[in-house]
Amino acid sequence: MAQSSTDLMTKPTWGLKGKHILVAISAGVAAYKSCMLVRDLIRAGAEIKIVMTEAARAFVSAETFQALTGEAVYTDLWDDRVHHRMAHIELGRWADAILIAPASANLMARLAHGICNDLISTLCLARPRERCPLLIAPAMNREMWSHPATQRNAQALQDDGAILLGPDRGDQACGETGDGRMLEPAELFEALDHALSPKALLGRHCVVTAGPTFEAIDPVRGITNRSSGKMGFAIAQAASQAGASVELVAGPVSLATPWQVRRYDVVSATEMLAAVDLAINRIPLHEIERSIFISVAAVADWRPEVIAKQKIKKLAGDTPPNLRFTENPDILASVAARQPRPYCVGFAAESELLREHGEAKRKKKNIPLIAANIGHETFGQDLNQLLLLDERGEHPLPLASKQALARQLIEAIADRLS
Ligand SMILES: Cc1cc2nc3c(=O)[nH]c(=O)nc-3n(C[C@H](O)[C@H](O)[C@H](O)COP(=O)(O)O)c2cc1C
Repeated sequence: MAQSSTDLMTKPTWGLKGKHILVAISAGVAAYKSCMLVRDLIRAGAEIKIVMTEAARAFVSAETFQALTGEAVYTDLWDDRVHHRMAHIELGRWADAILIAPASANLMARLAHGICNDLISTLCLARPRERCPLLIAPAMNREMWSHPATQRNAQALQDDGAILLGPDRGDQACGETGDGRMLEPAELFEALDHALSPKALLGRHCVVTAGPTFEAIDPVRGITNRSSGKMGFAIAQAASQAGASVELVAGPVSLATPWQVRRYDVVSATEMLAAVDLAINRIPLHEIERSIFISVAAVADWRPEVIAKQKIKKLAGDTPPNLRFTENPDILASVAARQPRPYCVGFAAESELLREHGEAKRKKKNIPLIAANIGHETFGQDLNQLLLLDERGEHPLPLASKQALARQLIEAIADRLS
């Protein structure tokens, strides 16, 4: 599940600030969720105009959206607020993106067939398609959604270039359970941010590792570290927003998977290496050198030599078990040793002497770029600061949210690749 809309208040976005977003509301029960979405988009610095179908006003009043946006809602093809009464042209010209949420089965059918019998259907057809994406968030009863007519329309809309968001599966207002629920406001927010972010890594593959590893001692105990995965997940999200096709190999953490990112959950360092190898092997050979590997996970250096099959019992008078350790595989070094290899970026979690230790690690692993940070100050936190080290020297990224730093890191990588 994505984060709550309250969390979003503090999150910087890449694609939304200053953007013109036309939110179109059709007649579905989920229309109430779009009120929260609109509030979050405005808080993120987007400019919002609302268009509603006539029937949508039976679910949420136009006055609610007017109060949220500070502007009267558009419902009428003949709206005389607009130059030459051409709202269907002017609104599309104004918009950087159009989001229909909720999209009723009826509206989807009209859009799929190019029927222009109200303001929303007409302006969607008239929008400048090459620069104004159309995002559609269906919301309906599961029978309506699974009906072949709706499925045909959904496919036709995607074939025409629309981005379909969901629907989700779950409880429905009609009392049934199944596919057809509109995505939550936080997910729609992330999808819009994603669609409108600059695409500096378009067409590249990116594999990211994140979180800690857990090295078992026996069936109930193990050794891990305090990495939360927040930095790695933020980087996977930023790389995906920048247009890369991202595979995220995650140690044991309970974070939401970023939008459009494929995630593989692993536990130990050995499993993480196997998942990374699989992910890189899936990249076509001729694209490997254009691809990126970002090793953010705090991989345990050692694991217990033997994993006890049963819980090691504490018996009265016994001395504590004498654990013996063996070295874990070095995932970053093994990817860096491939031929051909992706552009490799490492992370160094140090406790002191960032530049010296970071640069020594960069050279030892034979990688072009490393991001050094103070491990114990950042593990689990929302903020961080990074020192980027490459052959040109050091480039500090001052204290900021992990999302903001992730975007700066992705921009730095894109610069070096271009
Ligand atoms: C109480 C009620 C709830 C409805 N909920 C939905 C819905 O969630 N999704 C949907 O596609 N249609 C739903 N409908 C049907 C649409 O409101 C109806 O098809 C309407 O004509 C759509 O108009 P529009 O597409 O112009 O907004 C519902 C109808 C009623 C009476």
